[in-house]
This record gives sequence, C-alpha cells and structure tokens, in this order.
Amino acid sequence: MGKTSKDKRDIYYRKAKEEGWRARSAFKLLQIDEECQIFEGVSKAVDLCAAPGSWSQVLARKLNENYKKALERESDISPPKIIAVDLQAMAPLEGVIQLQGDITNTNTAKQIIAHFNNTQADLVVCDGAPDVTGLHDMDIFIQSQLLLAALNITTHILKPGGAFVAKIFRAKDMSFLFAQLRLFFPYVYCAKPSSSRNSSIEAFMVCKKYSPPEGYEPHMMNPLLTYEPCDFHKLTGVNRIIVPFVVCGDFNQVDSDTSYPLDHKGEEYKYREPVQLPLAPPYEEVMSLSRNRNFHMADVSVIIENEISAFKREALQECQAEISAEARATRQDQEQDDVSLQEAPIEALQNLYVSDENRDN
Ligand SMILES: C[S@@+](CC[C@H](N)C(=O)[O-])C[C@H]1O[C@@H](n2cnc3c(N)ncnc32)[C@H](O)[C@@H]1O
Repeated sequence: MGKTSKDKRDIYYRKAKEEGWRARSAFKLLQIDEECQIFEGVSKAVDLCAAPGSWSQVLARKLNENYKKALERESDISPPKIIAVDLQAMAPLEGVIQLQGDITNTNTAKQIIAHFNNTQADLVVCDGAPDVTGLHDMDIFIQSQLLLAALNITTHILKPGGAFVAKIFRAKDMSFLFAQLRLFFPYVYCAKPSSSRNSSIEAFMVCKKYSPPEGYEPHMMNPLLTYEPCDFHKLTGVNRIIVPFVVCGDFNQVDSDTSYPLDHKGEEYKYREPVQLPLAPPYEEVMSLSRNRNFHMADVSVIIENEISAFKREALQECQAEISAEARATRQDQEQDDVSLQEAPIEALQNLYVSDENRDN
C-alpha cells in the first residue's frame, strides 16, 4: 500500500489532514452542528470516548469562538471548560482536560463528575465505538451499552436545557434506545452526517433541551437491554413514535463513499503526514517485528508447517503398511499377482496426498 492510498480513497480523510484535524470524524460533529446548532451558548462540554481527539479539537475551537463573542458583551465570564475521556491515552490538546478511563466504569464517571464540582455541562458528546468483533449482535449490544453509560454520566452533569450527542448503530434496539432518550429530552433526532459513510450503520442521536422526568435520581446502573420478543403492534397512537431522521449536509457536499481524483476541483494534491499519530497503536508490535527482521513469528509458522509435513508422512507410511498387509493377505487367499493390488491403492493415496497439498496451497 502506497502512502497515499487512503488519501486517494477518502476525501474526508484527506481534508482532515489538510485542515489539521486528528481524525476525519471532526467533519461529522461539524456537520451535525450545521444542522442542529449544538454549540450555541456552550462554554462547558464533555467529550466521551474522545481519542485521538478530533471532536475535542472541534469543541475547543467552537467554545473559544463562543467565549470571544461573550467577552465582547461582558467581561466577567469564565473561559471554556472541556473534559475529554477515553480508554486510550490521547496526545495533549490545549484547553482540554484529559482523563483516561472506561466510561462504563463508575470510577471514571465519578472522576468526570468531580471535575464539575457542583457546576454543570452545557453539552456532552460521545463518539464511542467498541473494537468491532464482526459479530454484529455483539457489536450492536456493546455500542448500546456505551450509549447508555454515556447517558448515565450525562444525567449527573448536564444542566437542564443542555444537549447530548451520541453515536448509535441503526439496528435492532434503536427504538428502545430512542424511547430511553425521550424520557430525558423532548427533542431527539437521528442524524447521519454526509461525512459518515453510507455503508456504515452508525448515526448520531442528537438530543436537546435536557429535562429529566420529575423525581428522577441519576444513577450509574445500566438498564439491561432485554432480548424478550416485543410485539410492537400492541403499541398504538403516540406510543408508536417514528424517530425523526435528519441528514446533515446536502448534495453540495462531497460524498464520503466516492473516490475523488487527487486534483479534485483543480487543486494540486500534496501529501501530508497524519496530524497526530496514535500514541500506542495496537499494530505497533507487528511493525517493529517486521522492521527489526525478528522473524520469531515466521519461525513458528515454519515449525508448524514442518510438523504437519512429518505428521502427513507418518500417516502415509502407516496407510502404506496397512494396505501392504491387506494386499499380502489377499494374495495368499486368491494366489493372484499382487503388484496392481499393492501399488494401485498406494498410488491413489499418493495422488490424494498430492491433491490435498495442492488444496492447502
Ligand atoms: C471512533 S473513536 C472516537 C473518535 C473521536 N471522536 C475523534 O474525533 O477523534 C472511538 C473511541 O471510543 C473509545 N472507547 C471505546 N469504548 C470505550 C469505553 N468503554 N470507555 C472509554 N472510551 C471508549 C475508543 O478507545 C476509541 O478511541
């Protein structure tokens, strides 16, 4: 793979590097804001599942703009506060307080809440995604749990009237999650920014005007998603609410699933290094193995291959011995010429062995 292969494929990836965003995800939050105005009047925000940090960069930029505007009107206001949390370490970002932890863990939630120290956030965003396993039900379940954990943390720190934006997988339990969110927010939209690939089931729940049910006490218990069969036909009238689905962006914007030429719109293409390399990527070990020509892994596969070959040889010899014994017995019984009897099955077996080897290749 050449250095520019991903650049060629994905215009948002390219634009992110041009504009200095750590990830192409930045455009998703920017496009959600264009449609839903989530940053209006925001000065305190929490970015859950924030690494490598492009949403935090967007927050820092937008909240600073708000701060400058507010300073023009009055002088006695505090600077913006942004808290970013992720399982992974994140390179520092100016004006962003970073915490490393699991958002489904009560201790992490307590740390975030402690940072607010009796103040409240105007906005909580969560772009959390599990390391997808490929087992769709499992991935969707973990994603739902992340959203619910984010909602639980949000109920502790969001001010009444505040907003919450969280990634969701458009799948089986979406209506259930929507119903949960509607308990806390009168406005809940499902947004699909143009920069989010059509091929991806991800979308974003945009929830506005936080107003928890009267008497609701925030807690950190995740309501479990039950897999009991639901008869949705029993739901009638207002109970069968269809989630408002908004697409952020229009046909004037570039399409995230299209491959654009490198000189798109006549601009000369220039390769750029990633804005922020991951601090400890999971592929680092493999890279260093191949760089240092440490063929430990390769040796293991050679050993395994040799052992398989030895096993096959032994099995073949055993078969030959058995067939020979059988052939001898047959010869004794029938007093016939044994060559064809003895050789033919061995040949057939050898052919089998050869075709078996070909199949392996
Ligand atoms: C798609 S990335 C977020 C990208 C980020 N919004 C940005 O713009 O740079 C998803 C992140 O979710 C984080 N994550 C997944 N499960 C988590 C958990 N239980 N607690 C905290 N972070 C989690 C992953 O470590 C990963 O960094």
